[in-house]
Amino acid sequence: TQLSGALADYDKGGYAHYLHREIRDQVEVVQRTLSGRLDLRFSTAHLGGLNLAPRDLLNTRRIKILGCGSAYYAGMAGAHMIEGLARLPVSAEPAAEFRYRNPVVEPETLYIVASQSGETFDTLAALREIRRKGGFVLGIVNSVGSTIAREVDGGIYMHAGPEVSVASTKAYTSMLTVFSLLALMLGRLRDVSPQRGSTLVAALQELPDKVGETLALEDSIAAIAPTLIKAHSAFFLGRTASYPVALEGAQKLKEISYIHAEAYPASELKHGPLALISSTTPCIVLLPDDELLTKSLTSLEEIRTRGAPIISLTDSNHPRIHELSDQLITLPAVSTLLQPIVAGIALQLLAYHCALLLERDIDQPRNLAKSVTVE
Ligand code: AGP
Repeated sequence: TQLSGALADYDKGGYAHYLHREIRDQVEVVQRTLSGRLDLRFSTAHLGGLNLAPRDLLNTRRIKILGCGSAYYAGMAGAHMIEGLARLPVSAEPAAEFRYRNPVVEPETLYIVASQSGETFDTLAALREIRRKGGFVLGIVNSVGSTIAREVDGGIYMHAGPEVSVASTKAYTSMLTVFSLLALMLGRLRDVSPQRGSTLVAALQELPDKVGETLALEDSIAAIAPTLIKAHSAFFLGRTASYPVALEGAQKLKEISYIHAEAYPASELKHGPLALISSTTPCIVLLPDDELLTKSLTSLEEIRTRGAPIISLTDSNHPRIHELSDQLITLPAVSTLLQPIVAGIALQLLAYHCALLLERDIDQPRNLAKSVTVE
C-alpha cells in the first residue's frame, strides 16, 4: 500500500501491517471519538454539528441507517443501540439496496448515512436520493471535508484518524462508539432516566480501558487461528444485537484470510443452515451475558450434537459455556450496550491472525478497494 499526501507520514508504527496497527490503536481511537462528547451534568452525550434542535429530535418517529459493507454492519449494530435506548423503530439497510428500490422517504424519519471514507458512491447516491425527496440526512463520517460530509444536513465526525488498510477495523469500532453516543443522547431526550444515563456515561468512560483489556487477549485469540485456518467454511452466530457483530466477524475473516464464512442469527440455524453444520465447519458463537444467554445455550447444544468445533466469545462464566466450547474467548464485562464493540475487536484479531498464518496480502486483499467510489 503506497501512501501519498497527508497519509505519507502515517506509517505502520512498527507493526507488520497497517491493519495490525489500526487494530492496536483502538484504545486511542475510542478515546478520540468520545472526547468532549460525554455530558456528566445531564448524563447524556453532547454531539455538536447535528443541525437538529431537541424539538426536531422529539418529533422524530423513526430512524433509517444506510451504509455499505462494514459501515452497513455498524449501522445494524447502531440500530439495536438506538432502538434499545430511544424506543424508536430503527432499521439499517445497504445503501445501494435502498437507493435502487425507489424508496418511500417519509417525514418524521431521521436518515443516517455511515461512511469512513465519505466517498462511497452507493452511500452518496442514497444520500442524494433522500435529500432530493426532502429527507433530512445525518452523516457519521471519518474523512473530514469528504463529499458525503459536505452534502449531509448535519453530522458527527468519528475522529478515528487515518485508516489505510482496506479492511475496516478502527473506523468500524469508532462508528459503533458514535452510535452508542447517539443512542444515549436520543434516549435521554425520551425515557432514559438520569440515573440510567449516568450508568451509561460511566460505561462509556470505561470503554477505552475495556478495549485495552480486549486487545490484551491477542495472544490467546491468536492461539485459536491454527484451528480456524484448516476450515474451508466457518459460521458466525449471534442473536439480536450480536447478529451484526457476527456479520462483521464473518466479513473480516472473508476479506483478509479468504476463508468462506457466513453469519446467521443463532435462531435461524434450525431453519436450514443446520444441514451444513458438521465437524468441518467451525462455529464462532457470540454469547453475551444478557437475558438471551439461556436461549443461546440451546443453540450451542444444537451445534455440539452435530460435532462442529465451537469457538465461544463471552463475558459470562456460565459453566455450560465452558463444557460445550472447544475454544473460549473470555471478553471483559461491559454494559450490554457496548458489548458489540469489544466482541467486534476480538473478531478483528481472530481474522488478522488467520490471515497472518495464511500469508495473505493483509492490507490490500485481492479484488478489494479501500473506497468504492464507483457504482
Ligand atoms: C470493510 O472492511 C470494507 N473495507 C468495506 O466493506 C467498507 O466498509 C465499505 O466499502 C464502506 O466503506 P466506507 O465506510 O468508506 O463508506
